[in-house]
Amino acid sequence: MSLAFVVRPADRFADDVASTLLDRVATRPSLRLCLPTGSTPAPAYAAAAARGLDLSEATVVLLDEFGGLPPGDPARCDVAIERDLLGRLPRRPAAYVRLDPDVDDVDAEVARFDAEVAAGGLDLVLLGLGANGHLGLNEPGSEVTAPTRRVALDQGTASGALTYGASTAPSWGMTLGMDRIMAAREVWLLVTGEHKAAVLREVLTGPIGASVPASWLRQHPSVTVVADQPAASALDGSPLPGARSRAHAPASW
Ligand code: PGA
Repeated sequence: MSLAFVVRPADRFADDVASTLLDRVATRPSLRLCLPTGSTPAPAYAAAAARGLDLSEATVVLLDEFGGLPPGDPARCDVAIERDLLGRLPRRPAAYVRLDPDVDDVDAEVARFDAEVAAGGLDLVLLGLGANGHLGLNEPGSEVTAPTRRVALDQGTASGALTYGASTAPSWGMTLGMDRIMAAREVWLLVTGEHKAAVLREVLTGPIGASVPASWLRQHPSVTVVADQPAASALDGSPLPGARSRAHAPASW
């Protein structure tokens, strides 16, 4: 395991994530990058776009998607990634891989997406942290080997989509599997806000297991947990077993 824990002042978080992302892309313009949507990454995406992020040689994989929402719904992940990031960039990614919930054959769509991800692997996966400990839509109960699949949503996840402006609550989801996340070369777990403090403490100091899927990341060979100070506030003074703290690390980790 190699878990680094980076804490940033809330007003530095977006810029520091953006600058580290620009560094990674500069080092490897053709990287295969998996991206989440949601309120956590959106400010970092805005900062990265403002600084001229260029993904024109990169492959972008969209982490997950809601089912049961009409095309164009503002809570859909394909809409959100365009609004928050891709639509702000001067050029499209070289390749863009996403799960389409509007197909007739969802199982075939999952298999197509998963094969495309598996073919080249993932260099860097960015993740938000669900209030229930989910990663993507790997909801509580997801084992470390859980594959890319169609999923039932927790009630809180479904109703939470309404806070993203959904016209109705999504009725199901599709997600990159835990297995692909665990096989990625590098993972960043992004966590902001005091409302995530208790679940982040559980992720980092509680038992590793399916009841808090993000806890599986403690078994990943190269993960960086990047939290703002409010999200890290419940960890003050608690040593993290096995973690390298980079609270005073330079802007890039
Ligand atoms: P958020 O969502 O970034 O909007 O808090 C995170 C998640 O539910 O995965």
